[in-house]
Amino acid sequence: MKLSYQTEIKGKKVDALITGVYEGLKELDEKEKEALKALGFKGKAGEVAVLPGEAFKGIIYVGLGKKGELKPDTVRLAAAKGIKEAKRRKFKRIVCELLGTDKLKEEAARAVAEGLKLGSYEFNKYKSSEDEQFEVEKVYVAGTPEFKEAFKLGEILGEAANYTRALVNEPGNVITPESLAEEAKKLAKEYGFECTVFDEKKLEKNQMVGILTVGRGSKNPPRFIHIAYKPKKPKKRVVLVGKGVTFDSGGLNIKPEQYMKTMKSDKAGACAVLGIMKAIGELRPDVEVHGLIPTVENMPDGKAYRPDDIIVYRNGKSVEVHSTDAEGRLILADALIYGSELEPDVMIDMATLTGACVVALGNYTSGLFTEDERLAKELLSLSEKSGEKMWRLPLDEDLKEDIKGQYADIQNVGKSRYGGAITAALFLQNFVDGDKVKSWAHLDIAGPAFLSSPWKYYSAGATGQPVRTVTELLLNSNK
Ligand code: BES
Ligand code: ZN
Ligand code: ZN
Repeated sequence: MKLSYQTEIKGKKVDALITGVYEGLKELDEKEKEALKALGFKGKAGEVAVLPGEAFKGIIYVGLGKKGELKPDTVRLAAAKGIKEAKRRKFKRIVCELLGTDKLKEEAARAVAEGLKLGSYEFNKYKSSEDEQFEVEKVYVAGTPEFKEAFKLGEILGEAANYTRALVNEPGNVITPESLAEEAKKLAKEYGFECTVFDEKKLEKNQMVGILTVGRGSKNPPRFIHIAYKPKKPKKRVVLVGKGVTFDSGGLNIKPEQYMKTMKSDKAGACAVLGIMKAIGELRPDVEVHGLIPTVENMPDGKAYRPDDIIVYRNGKSVEVHSTDAEGRLILADALIYGSELEPDVMIDMATLTGACVVALGNYTSGLFTEDERLAKELLSLSEKSGEKMWRLPLDEDLKEDIKGQYADIQNVGKSRYGGAITAALFLQNFVDGDKVKSWAHLDIAGPAFLSSPWKYYSAGATGQPVRTVTELLLNSNK
């Protein structure tokens, strides 16, 4: 689906028009109003209805809710609902109005682009029927020149999120640590990034014991990926770390059936890092960005690591394994040690880390952990606008006791089940060098990274969270 921003749309041959309507349908003429009311359409946020048009096969009306309450996410949802409806009706060429710019200006222009992109993505590449493969060909977006740039930004962010979604949705027989590394190299080549991939030999040399230990149980060998965007005069240096477990069977502490399914999504953090890099490659801000990806397949083979194993990290900390299913923190530890040595202004890790975070916050909200008040405030305010919901959870010092090891410094699982998302975050904190990293945040994306059923503008599967929010944070640190 191609988006094309147009300040003049006369003469374009299209099948349908997407137009926004506020609750109450005030802007419409009587005939339209009656017809829409008969369809039960009131203009509420998320509603959609279609009427036959004169110049078009159909006019797709999307609800914008109450005029005084318009938010970027309502616009995003409206654009997504519109494009989904166009797709359902097999309309190939569309004109879409710039929804909500009367109230929200640039923010709305951007949300329209994001909504169109996010709303049109579905993981259907393996379906053989042509019917399931239908894509809208072209969307002409009708807007004034002042919003063109904002629209373009939204398009880049939506595209980057969809890139992440497409990668996450690939199953474990397609994406392995090696093929993920190949993908990173391809991306690096496309945008002129530096990219280094550590194989087992290099992992040994760098004492990346977490990655090596967890990776040993699989026939697919582990990797560590370092991809970097280095502009000439960077104002800041940022390190992003993403959990790249290409499949999490749980290892010897094998997962029960209902929890193992969907664990292809345990690489969502890694894929989000690649998506952010893609957006950065397009936008090229004056910020140095390093993407670090520890990637393994967590499997129970003859060489698999076991409960009771003790490993000693390069920063001197020893860890006792209590569960091989708490593998994410073990591989992230190596990346956080490595990331600290880059002495960044900000380091952010993103990981589908704990089921406990999903228990705490539900399926649609990520857990945010940081001791930096400013970073917390900024991320939360960006997340509110992007619709990638985040909620701050505490790095509660009193829970440190819970992960104190019996025979080693720390253990990879808390003594109690309670506060599982917090004890995981506290575990990671052990590997962030406070003298070298000015500010660190951890995002537990276990809930919203992957959905079992459609929600808002997302189809079932990967969402690409938190690509849009974190990219915007990077753009802001440009200033
Ligand atoms: N990958 C899982 C966490 C997860 C759960 C992600 C649900 C997405 C949805 C992680 O590696 C894991 O298995 N965590 C365990 C930790 C436990 C053993 C302390 C969990 O959450 O049960
Ligand atoms: Zn696990
Ligand atoms: Zn995992």
